[in-house]
Amino acid sequence: MTDSVTPRSRSLSVAGVSRSFAGVQALTGVTLAVEPGMVLGLIGPNGAGKSTLVNIISGYDFPDEGSVLLNDEDITMAKPHIRARRGLARTFQHGHLFGGLTVRENIEVTALGTGKSARESVTTADELLDEYHLRDRENHPASSLPHGVERRAGVARALATSPDYVLLDEPAAGLNEGEIGEFANNIRHLRDRGLGVLLIDHNVRLILDVCDRIHVLVEGRTLLEGTPDEVRNSDELVEAYLGRSGSVQR
Ligand SMILES: Nc1ncnc2c1ncn2[C@@H]1O[C@H](COP(=O)(O)OP(=O)(O)O)[C@@H](O)[C@H]1O
Ligand SMILES: [Mg+2]
Repeated sequence: MTDSVTPRSRSLSVAGVSRSFAGVQALTGVTLAVEPGMVLGLIGPNGAGKSTLVNIISGYDFPDEGSVLLNDEDITMAKPHIRARRGLARTFQHGHLFGGLTVRENIEVTALGTGKSARESVTTADELLDEYHLRDRENHPASSLPHGVERRAGVARALATSPDYVLLDEPAAGLNEGEIGEFANNIRHLRDRGLGVLLIDHNVRLILDVCDRIHVLVEGRTLLEGTPDEVRNSDELVEAYLGRSGSVQR
């Protein structure tokens, strides 16, 4: 039997992932999956374990227990660049652009790094600079960018590898209302092109607006997962996640 007739489940998933840091239990038995053409929101209060989970999925950290699967392949212990070549990309909560390079160079270098030719890398950069409204900044050093532009550049750079799955760690933090609206359209466009997107953000309106499903973490454990409607109407969520502070921003 050849590969082409072997049924393969296409998804990026974690199963039973636990991680502790010197006594702090950051994650306990977390299981979730992102499929192609799907936006999965990951929300939870600060310290819930969201970034730790992204680090584990992308190979910047490793679980004490549990596994990470990419299209049926166990990548739990694979290095980040191997995962990148398998179609996985991420952004970082705190920038991580190459500050001394221009916006264009950041995108091109990342494209080259996953094996694209020089010509392909230029084409990729041209497309992403347009899509993420970065044309007027393409020759500016990344270190000089205003916050909102830096966020968009971070997402554009992550996409330079033409991934199948992208993990976005608070990509909309600090964007203004107009920028968030545009960014929501960018996310829908990724989904429509068949990417699987894991989106972390504190902006509940953005999450409810663009996600197909939402996974809620509290203190490293899954509180619930459901559709935006299910999550919006969850008393559990309002009590446990938003606590005494009142109602969800709907
Ligand atoms: N490298 C680390 N060393 C020690 N503690 C860490 C480390 N990374 C995360 N933690 C702790 O793990 C918990 C989850 O953190 P994090 O994943 O950053 O949460 P979130 O992204 O949801 O705000 C927090 O208590 C945090 O202090
Ligand atoms: Mg975080």
